[in-house]
Amino acid sequence: MYDTIAKFMLFGVSPEHKPWKDCGKIKWLCPVPGYDRHFLICEKFGIEMVNVPVDENGPDMDMIEKLVAEDESIKGIWCVPMYANPTGVTYSDEVVKRFAALKPKADDFRIFWDNAYCVHHLSDTPDTLLNILDECKKAGCPERPIMFASTSKVTFAGAGVAMYAASEENIKYFLSMMTVQTIGYDKINQLRHVRFFGDFEGLKAHMKKHQALLAPRFRAVLDALESELAPLGCAGWTKPNGGYFISFDGMEGTAKRIVALCKEAGVVLTGAGATFPYGRDPEDKNIRIAPTYPSIEELETAVKIFIVAVKLASAEKLLG
Ligand SMILES: Cc1ncc(COP(=O)(O)O)c(C=O)c1O
Repeated sequence: MYDTIAKFMLFGVSPEHKPWKDCGKIKWLCPVPGYDRHFLICEKFGIEMVNVPVDENGPDMDMIEKLVAEDESIKGIWCVPMYANPTGVTYSDEVVKRFAALKPKADDFRIFWDNAYCVHHLSDTPDTLLNILDECKKAGCPERPIMFASTSKVTFAGAGVAMYAASEENIKYFLSMMTVQTIGYDKINQLRHVRFFGDFEGLKAHMKKHQALLAPRFRAVLDALESELAPLGCAGWTKPNGGYFISFDGMEGTAKRIVALCKEAGVVLTGAGATFPYGRDPEDKNIRIAPTYPSIEELETAVKIFIVAVKLASAEKLLG
């Protein structure tokens, strides 16, 4: 994704388009809360980020339709369309179709469709997602989406296979640049992956093992939050059907305090604010919980500490 933006900056989205570096100020739509690394990429390239709220169906499409139609400097949007990081939301069919039907003022507007969690189901009744490329083809704009995925959270973190999918024209263009960029990618690793999975059924069977490891960890956290915090009404959180995260919203102005209290007690969480562009959560209430790595025993202890921290921070807020 970093590399794709770098290419568009230097060379434009196609041979017919101006490089983004020559387009003056560039803006980007960022559904929030979202993935910190996406936001860092924009920051690195000096792209101005615009927050877009998200609900259980995906990003606010009314807002997106209006913004892209009016503002030619908006060149792209980050989307994690399935089991989003961190909300766990999967975009509804209507949202995907509305993305395909957008009428952006910038004809080099691109959707960065980061489908990082497309096979990361936590239940036996997985969410489903429309294929954005098919929808865009139907709508006459096949060049609009660039779809990314990787096996980072399937085989080896940081040493898997990264991939993208896009229209034939886009792929031809990317290949024309990649041919110059590298003489040979890591074919041995690709072969290793092909042999390991065999086929799509093999991949699905592998992800069932992930599900068996991860689902009880999510349950441990969600059960504790439900029994300890739900009755108090001082917080809300997502109950994802896949992906890697629970998105937690405390009372306004408490997220930084909760993370600090946890740290004092030895529980390290993703920094408060990390889920927003520029690390600034305007309401200071969102915390990304990642229950994937610790053991169940560690998680049970960690979530107890987290809950105490939430209660303390909320009480301080109410008394203050
Ligand atoms: C939405 C999303 N995209 C991409 C990645 C990272 O993928 P990779 O390691 O292939 O860069 C992550 C990892 O947390 C993620 O949450």
